[in-house]
Amino acid sequence: MPLKNRIVMAPMTRTRNSEGDIPNALMATYYGQRASAGLIVAEATDVSPSSKGYALTPGIYADVQRQGWRLVTDEVHRNKGTIFLQIWHVGRMAHSSLMPNGEAPWGVTEQRAEHSDVFAHDADGKLGYIRAGKPRRLETDEVSALVGTFSLAFAHARQAGFDGVEIHAANGYLFEQFMNSVLNTRTDRYGGARMEDRTRFLLEVVDAAVRELGPGRVGVRLSPFGTFNSLPADPQAEQTLLYLAEQLGRRGVAYMHLVYQLMPSANMESAEFKEHHIDHAVLAKVRAAFPGSIIWCGGFTSREGAQAALDTGLVDLIAFGRPYIANPDLAERLAHGWPLAEADRSTYYTRRGEVGYTDFPAYRADSLAAVAG
Ligand code: PHB
Repeated sequence: MPLKNRIVMAPMTRTRNSEGDIPNALMATYYGQRASAGLIVAEATDVSPSSKGYALTPGIYADVQRQGWRLVTDEVHRNKGTIFLQIWHVGRMAHSSLMPNGEAPWGVTEQRAEHSDVFAHDADGKLGYIRAGKPRRLETDEVSALVGTFSLAFAHARQAGFDGVEIHAANGYLFEQFMNSVLNTRTDRYGGARMEDRTRFLLEVVDAAVRELGPGRVGVRLSPFGTFNSLPADPQAEQTLLYLAEQLGRRGVAYMHLVYQLMPSANMESAEFKEHHIDHAVLAKVRAAFPGSIIWCGGFTSREGAQAALDTGLVDLIAFGRPYIANPDLAERLAHGWPLAEADRSTYYTRRGEVGYTDFPAYRADSLAAVAG
């Protein structure tokens, strides 16, 4: 798919959706304002009610949610943008207070994420960061059934007008829980010593996505060597990454979206990226094995940093997260070397509608208003 530049808007939870996890007109305005990005990856979206590990994230399983997302894609396309939807299942990174009928989170095993938080309800019903709950180990046929659940969500994403989908297989959520050779001690076809078994769930879901949307319209986000969300360090991480690069390439996946590298922290709110960390030798091997595009994300805040990363020749696109909050026209600002605005962290995740969300002007409008005023 041709893109107009190498700038990606990274997926970011912003908690502005309506009750019932339904996207709305305000979100359409927000994404529409950012349509000059080469590619927008819309925020992590629940594949099913059992996938909720953070209150106030949107879904793509119900008809009303699909209709809400249609407002978003129409507005982005009206502004000549390209937009994919990031879809996830959080697996054990959940809590019974968010789960249907208060059931236990879904796990690859019964091993809890002992040092990590989710955004859920405490005993008094108050929202905040609390420890992830103890998961229930999924049966083999439940894992297979979940592939069907993803398939349905991909169909919804297509019907909602998305140009493609991104499968969130990073940051210690369900796909990475399966892939991790230390955590995944299952003995069925989805786990154990063989890499082919530990990646089977992800690759079956990728196959489903390619069936629904076509090759070239599916991306996969990975965080190789990451230990965020209490994942044990994986001695087989590189081997698994290179196997995936080859397998994803064979399936016509459009891009690998690599997040390098979240520092250990209890939750996303306090997470920081190791500044521009990347192992060039490993990345060169990924490059050789994968014919699609590579997106690099994690801590980029300037034109110079992004250009230096592109100049390595190892990646094709740079994703910006936080800078996109206060700079709807980030692509133009980077192109012209215009200064960037700073967002107020207290408005990242609130229910206060447009405040800190859609009320940031474009640089030109801002500076012209200052001249006129
Ligand atoms: C993550 O990728 O770690 C992530 C995504 C969405 C959230 C929180 C964390 O709301």
